[in-house]
Amino acid sequence: MSKKDSHDPAWLTTLGLLAGAAAGYLAWHKLNQTAGPSFRLRSRRPETAVVTGASSGIGAVYARKLASLGYDLVLVARREDRLRTMATELTEGHGVHTEVLAADLALERDLQRLEDRIVHSDSMTVLVNNAGFGYSRDFVELSPEEIDRLLDVHLRASVRLSRAVLPGFLQRSRGAIVNVSSLAGFMALPGAELYAASKGFLTTFSRALGRQWAGSGVVVQALCPGLTRTEFHQAAGYPSDTGARWPWAWMSAREVVEDSLAGLELGRSVVIPGAVNQACVAILATPLEGVLNSLISRRRRSGLQQKPVLH
Ligand SMILES: NC(=O)c1ccc[n+]([C@@H]2O[C@H](COP(=O)([O-])OP(=O)(O)OC[C@H]3O[C@@H](n4cnc5c(N)ncnc54)[C@H](OP(=O)(O)O)[C@@H]3O)[C@@H](O)[C@H]2O)c1
Repeated sequence: MSKKDSHDPAWLTTLGLLAGAAAGYLAWHKLNQTAGPSFRLRSRRPETAVVTGASSGIGAVYARKLASLGYDLVLVARREDRLRTMATELTEGHGVHTEVLAADLALERDLQRLEDRIVHSDSMTVLVNNAGFGYSRDFVELSPEEIDRLLDVHLRASVRLSRAVLPGFLQRSRGAIVNVSSLAGFMALPGAELYAASKGFLTTFSRALGRQWAGSGVVVQALCPGLTRTEFHQAAGYPSDTGARWPWAWMSAREVVEDSLAGLELGRSVVIPGAVNQACVAILATPLEGVLNSLISRRRRSGLQQKPVLH
């Protein structure tokens, strides 16, 4: 190396970027490889699927897809009217049995009702833990009740329902648990600390549970969508034009669910739908992680145009 080269940091930067790209590719490849046994999706009836958060968005698409594959359904959410309309549509359209279980999964008594329903069924085959929500406000602005609510719906409910289905799944040597996590679960995302960390928990929990029961006929998937066009952002209080930002980064709920179901048949324990989201995960495994996190968080703040109000 010449004296000039040793003072020129360009070759070091290039080397760093190449090493980062290689590490990112390896991380992406590791997550996308076929990791476990596959799950035969088409139901040999009678089999039942429970979908939480079935009243809109990703959950509503799961319910429709699973009904079209022949599953009887237990539809769970708080908005009972929406669930009833969907139940009628699915029964008429696919001839499956649909049951509405109106429940607020942050409430212990409602969660117990659903657990009871699950453990007393001998046809339960698929559990989709999809119910979830976010906050557009800063962590420091959330009340203790709001913090508990998010942890209860994302973590407590998903873990308890997974525990409830497992004995039946193992006994019948067949069952699939899908935990709807998020791309945010791979990020230490300023401004969405609680949401991102709860989704990181769900991804790790799913991967560990899937490994524990590999070969038993039970498969567990963490679905990690990025920006998806649903009611999520509106419910979280983001501005109505949120969907217009980074239009290339958004997916439809249908695309996300199709990737998840294809992933079950391919035996993928972590499914990251879409090339943009997969590229994000690859970058997050490199030294560029901090840059990506702060870019997303700055963009989020400029969208909200709010300063936190401290109490
Ligand atoms: N949209 C995205 O960009 C995105 C990205 C990554 C991950 N996700 C995840 O995808 C999942 C589905 O969200 P989505 O995008 O489809 O949003 P969505 O359209 O707002 O749907 C959320 C669903 O969760 C239900 N829910 C919320 N709180 C509940 C509670 N306490 N008890 C029972 N059900 C509850 C809602 O039903 P009710 O209001 O009727 O109770 C609704 O059916 C969530 O876990 C979310 O974190 C979304």
